[in-house]
Amino acid sequence: MIMLKKRILSGMRPTGKLHLGHLVGALDNWVKLQEEYDCFFMIADWHALMSEYENPADLKANTLDIALDWLACGIDPKKSTIFVQSQVREHLELYMFFSLITPLGPLERCPTYKEQLREVRNRDLSTYGFLGYPVLQAADILLYKAGVVPVGEDQLPHLELTRQIARKFNHLYKSTLFPEPQALLTKEARLLGLDGRKMSKSYNNYISLSEDAETIRKKVQSMFTDPARVRLSDPGHPEKCNLHNYYAVFAPQRKKEIDAACRAARIGCTECKKEMAEILVKFLGPIRKKREAILEDKSALIGILSEGKKKAEEAASRTIKEVKALLRLGD
Ligand code: TRP
Ligand code: SF4
Repeated sequence: MIMLKKRILSGMRPTGKLHLGHLVGALDNWVKLQEEYDCFFMIADWHALMSEYENPADLKANTLDIALDWLACGIDPKKSTIFVQSQVREHLELYMFFSLITPLGPLERCPTYKEQLREVRNRDLSTYGFLGYPVLQAADILLYKAGVVPVGEDQLPHLELTRQIARKFNHLYKSTLFPEPQALLTKEARLLGLDGRKMSKSYNNYISLSEDAETIRKKVQSMFTDPARVRLSDPGHPEKCNLHNYYAVFAPQRKKEIDAACRAARIGCTECKKEMAEILVKFLGPIRKKREAILEDKSALIGILSEGKKKAEEAASRTIKEVKALLRLGD
């Protein structure tokens, strides 16, 4: 008997370079999940455009760059379907229909929406489209009838709304078309940015996956450490130091010794950072090499995305047919 694998859908917005925070948290989890699940990984360019519509110049380059990072980190197109949201137009069809049955209240109350409206200064997000961000996300997920959606905690309200939309649709049209997807919570990323805040493009405190060795060294030297440690002879408190988390993730076998040496003031921060920089240079080296190898034949990358588009379209068009039949919409 063939066991059908459960389906996963997840996505990232192509708004800039992927960094260590994306890798340790989301991407390395995706790489593992593709062994067990039928995975669809989507580059959410429509979602990016919802906030970047005034400035789309980098969208295409960012889209290819994300695909490149995914492949370099071990997303395997033989196992998973990698595609670009805007290339599968069924997303917009389902989004349009879902917008008819989604009440305004939950969209207006959505924490991500309220936060962005409040925090984002340099773009006008008080648009009709941006309010519908989670509705498009629900369409992304339900179009593929994904049962599982790996996401970070901030996305849970979007998942809840997706479930509500699925339930309402099924109820209105007496169908069982859409499963209610479960979130697979990505562990809180343990890696903070260089300045100790969440690693993020907007804080410019990240180490990107394609960083060259010199930049990695410079960035690691700029990292915040234990603020109480001013002189080399001051004993340090590794648990208060950001470097400590980096050792936990990238050199767990070295962490104990570093901890002890730091507490006893046997190692200075400059030296400790130097060692971590070399660990990261070594860690990111193969990813960089793989990126370069893929870039040598860009047509292969385009080929992977068009193959992904085909597979995504197959699944998506099937769902849209079923939706249209239930809604008495003609083809
Ligand atoms: N909103 C998600 C984010 O910002 C990206 C995304 C778009 C997504 N569509 C999705 C994630 C569907 C999971 C499933 O991270
Ligand atoms: Fe942090 Fe290392 Fe300095 Fe200790 S020695 S405070 S762990 S950078």
